[in-house]
Amino acid sequence: MMMLVTGGAGYIGSVATEELIKAGYDVVVYDNLTQGHRQAVHPQAVLVEAHLADRGALNSVFAKHDIQAVMHFAAHSVVSFSMHDPLLFIRENVGHAINLLEAMAAHDVKRFILSSTANVYGDPERIPIREEDGLAPGSPYGESKLMIERILHWCEVRYGLRYASLRYFNAAGASEAYGEHHDPETHLIPLLLKVALGQREHLDIYGSDYPTRDGTCVRDYIHLIDLAQAHILALEALDEGSRIYNLGNGEGFTVQEVVTTAREVTGHPIPARIAPRRSGDPATLVASSEKIRRELGWEARSPDLREIIESAWRWQQAHPEGYAE
Ligand SMILES: NC(=O)c1ccc[n+]([C@@H]2O[C@H](COP(=O)([O-])OP(=O)(O)OC[C@H]3O[C@@H](n4cnc5c(N)ncnc54)[C@H](O)[C@@H]3O)[C@@H](O)[C@H]2O)c1
Repeated sequence: MMMLVTGGAGYIGSVATEELIKAGYDVVVYDNLTQGHRQAVHPQAVLVEAHLADRGALNSVFAKHDIQAVMHFAAHSVVSFSMHDPLLFIRENVGHAINLLEAMAAHDVKRFILSSTANVYGDPERIPIREEDGLAPGSPYGESKLMIERILHWCEVRYGLRYASLRYFNAAGASEAYGEHHDPETHLIPLLLKVALGQREHLDIYGSDYPTRDGTCVRDYIHLIDLAQAHILALEALDEGSRIYNLGNGEGFTVQEVVTTAREVTGHPIPARIAPRRSGDPATLVASSEKIRRELGWEARSPDLREIIESAWRWQQAHPEGYAE
């Protein structure tokens, strides 16, 4: 089966592409390389370097390749930027998804996997968060993903699209070949590893007075190979119907626990200092993945925080400048 992976030069898309190719799929990566990296594109994938705003380029990809399914990773995803420029985030994330869905409809492509986010739940009603819980996006970013989820429903009604929307929070870790290189970097684990590599002086911990076991926020971390596997399982189940799944480890770790584990893994003291809380940061975000376990038999192979950080550290040591070298 031939897949189109938008954002396949990015952090999660590169490993999803790698896992798809390992599983025997052919992959066309569609990426404008604004945030992604040419070196992150698997050598067996075809790279189409184009913007999702370019409807002509999108249509010619579907005209040229016999694409049967799409995994859509390409998006703006930095929450703080979305708070700063909500209209741009919503216009572009939603508009680009619509361009893609229109090209799919025109070429009769009916399988779609969306990278959604736990941010669609906002400040959750209960922990762990379940798929049926209330939706109240915590940012324009989460709102843009929820809008796309709702659009997918109407594409199913009108065009017979089958979709899976996967809501995850913190993708983390690395494969042997591909890892995390965002610019600017906003994610906790790569920031910690940059301190260990001597590229930053310290880590800021935003708030130490949350109602959690050590006062720092609790977050859910999922290894990106597990995440990629879940995308493939969801794809393979689409013929039985559209679906929405949370993806997480169901347990959650405090920021302080992540810092401590990163210190142990790297052997570096990684100085950390307490900074004021950031607005909109809920105390605890942990997703229940019970539904995808039950329905698709998905299991996290690396649920352990130490293994996740070890894989990221191996990649960072091998690529201290990320893909920039
Ligand atoms: N990283 C996480 O922890 C996380 C958590 C939840 C959801 N997500 C979602 O997963 C997806 C992938 O996240 P990531 O961390 O790999 O992001 P990333 O920025 O590393 O990758 C996104 C890729 O999309 C490409 N891209 C962006 N806009 C484009 C456009 N208009 N046209 C063509 N290509 C474009 C970028 O060049 C980049 O290669 C995003 O949709 C994000 O919202 C990520």
